[in-house]
Amino acid sequence: MKNLWIIIAILLTAGCSRHPSHFEASVPAPDGPIMLSFRLSEGVPSYMIYAGQEVILDWSPLGFILEGNDSLAAGFVLEDSRTLTFREVWQPVWGQFSSYINHYNSLRIRLREASGSRRLMEMEFRVFSDGLGFRYIFPEQEGLGDFRIMDELTGFHIGSEGRAWWIPGDWDSYEHLWRSTPVAGIDSANTPVTLELDNGYTVAIHEAALTDYAGMTLRRHETKPLLLECALVPWPDGVKVYGQTPFMTPWRTIQLVKEPGALVESGLILNLNEPSRIADVSWIRPMKYIGIWWGMHLGVYTWHAGHRHGATTERARQYIDFAASHDIDAVLVEGWNTGWESWFRGDQFDFVTPYPDFDLREVAAYAREKGVSLIGHHETGGQVPIYEKHIDSAFALYRSLGIDAVKTGYAGMIRPEGQHHHGQWMVRHYRMVVEKAAEHRIMIDAHEPIKPTGISRTWPNMMTREGVRGMEWNAWSEGNPPEHTTILPFTRMLGGPLDYTPGIFDIRCERYQAERKKSTSRDVEGTRVHTTLAKQLALYVVLFSPLQMAADMIENYENQPAFAFIERVPVTWDETRVLDAAIGDFVCIARRSGNDWYIGGITDERERTVGYALDFLRQNQEYRLLSYGDGEGADYETHPLDLMIREDVVTASDSLKIWMARGGGFAAILERIK
Ligand code: NOJ
Ligand code: CA
Repeated sequence: MKNLWIIIAILLTAGCSRHPSHFEASVPAPDGPIMLSFRLSEGVPSYMIYAGQEVILDWSPLGFILEGNDSLAAGFVLEDSRTLTFREVWQPVWGQFSSYINHYNSLRIRLREASGSRRLMEMEFRVFSDGLGFRYIFPEQEGLGDFRIMDELTGFHIGSEGRAWWIPGDWDSYEHLWRSTPVAGIDSANTPVTLELDNGYTVAIHEAALTDYAGMTLRRHETKPLLLECALVPWPDGVKVYGQTPFMTPWRTIQLVKEPGALVESGLILNLNEPSRIADVSWIRPMKYIGIWWGMHLGVYTWHAGHRHGATTERARQYIDFAASHDIDAVLVEGWNTGWESWFRGDQFDFVTPYPDFDLREVAAYAREKGVSLIGHHETGGQVPIYEKHIDSAFALYRSLGIDAVKTGYAGMIRPEGQHHHGQWMVRHYRMVVEKAAEHRIMIDAHEPIKPTGISRTWPNMMTREGVRGMEWNAWSEGNPPEHTTILPFTRMLGGPLDYTPGIFDIRCERYQAERKKSTSRDVEGTRVHTTLAKQLALYVVLFSPLQMAADMIENYENQPAFAFIERVPVTWDETRVLDAAIGDFVCIARRSGNDWYIGGITDERERTVGYALDFLRQNQEYRLLSYGDGEGADYETHPLDLMIREDVVTASDSLKIWMARGGGFAAILERIK
């Protein structure tokens, strides 16, 4: 009944047009205070967003500049407008929830140029209770066939000042530390950009379903400091997007919530993607993995062959044995194939020839025998044409050996020269890889990827990706400061899962210090991880990834009681709740898998005590609480390994009080007692 009234109310507002070049319509969210207004004023379209009385986005521009300075942003008349209420519940193959509710009111506007070639452009808005998305649609038409977008004019005119969380609008890398400035301090940013506005709302601007288009960066308008404009990543010739009607842009998304935690719980980005295109998803399995990996980043091993080669048959067998005896699903092996001598030229990789000391067939057979998956690796060095030339045989080889997950990499300048990681040409490439992998029944973990925009709803074999300044930076740079991971859930992770690769136990990277000093020309002095051990465990709950790595070398996990947490923690969830958070300070998340709950809490460089009622547990039921917290003397700089493990029995009427050390955290399992 409530929905019926909403539909009638929408129809009334949408219907009040008198003059076709002037029109205004508003659409409310199905629940809550959010309202979208669309306006056509003397033929110029724009939009605005309110939450109750608060202006979240002031009137903001829409439209395009096509080749030849041809404006598609004015001179329109309204041809049609429709509204719709939609509600569905759908189940992902894996996720932060076992089901998602996709509930929105939509407004679809059909505009036509009043003169000239009378081109058609449609706008579709979907308004949810936690934000909205909109996209442009160009129907097949006589006046518009092939076209070139030189500029998308979409703007986001922020309604009030506030604090912005952003990384630079780099066209080739998202591996930056997050900046925190006033909104007007953003010059150019990659999305998601998250804003804590002075009016009390938290807003995140991003995109959904980036399919055949350039990635969107945002830049500050020259004279209006609160107007962020879309700046698309170009092709080498300056064109931003090559298109042909019928054509749809990705969704421009504005998530809008009162508490930052609601951003983490939002399904908006996924809901704006199409349902799964993979009919039989039985082969898609969330997995925990270890790998021959950290040793290369530390400089203890090499990717290329030689006396310190990491990927030897013998070491791979040791990793497989370790995985089999510790409930770890899979083993990644990097540096197994020839070509690493010229990594950044990338022209020597054929993705099928193993180094002489790595017997791929034997290792794959051994993994199968032990019930462990092997994760394959394709580092392209950015040489995309070479990868495309070999990709069929590379996937076919893996498939023939029963290898059903591949980590890809694009560490290097994209070739052909002038193309960028985040431009349309690469968006097409990244998607082609996911689709081809699906044909071969292979799951993908992409590094140096395009940003996540929720396409895993459509292609659930697109498991996880990097696109973040991940753990590896701690091995060879000044590292990631303690606050870094307290920002990620509210920014980068809004797009989707993150292959951050947590789980370093040798926090100070001490074990191989002598070898490292001898073997690498880099200054390894002081390179280390900037957390406590308890925080490493907490990251498994905080940083969702359906392929989740235990990143340290296996010798650092032997005889470590803390590793039992990694063995047990699930990598896909039935339910997710943010207990409390302040972006850049701390975050505590509880996630349910079956009857059991897991909690992860992390803090920045400040210690703090947090407390939570356990009222999300089932009533009148006892739970065994196994907690891994910072020990009394813990401090990420001086005593990172001081860990306290304890067991208690609790019920829903108890509460938890937890102290987290500087750079610390805690992880807990709440296991229902049968
Ligand atoms: C960068 C990736 O992020 C890392 O995980 C990988 O080990 C190297 N490239 C080599 O492919
Ligand atoms: Ca990387």
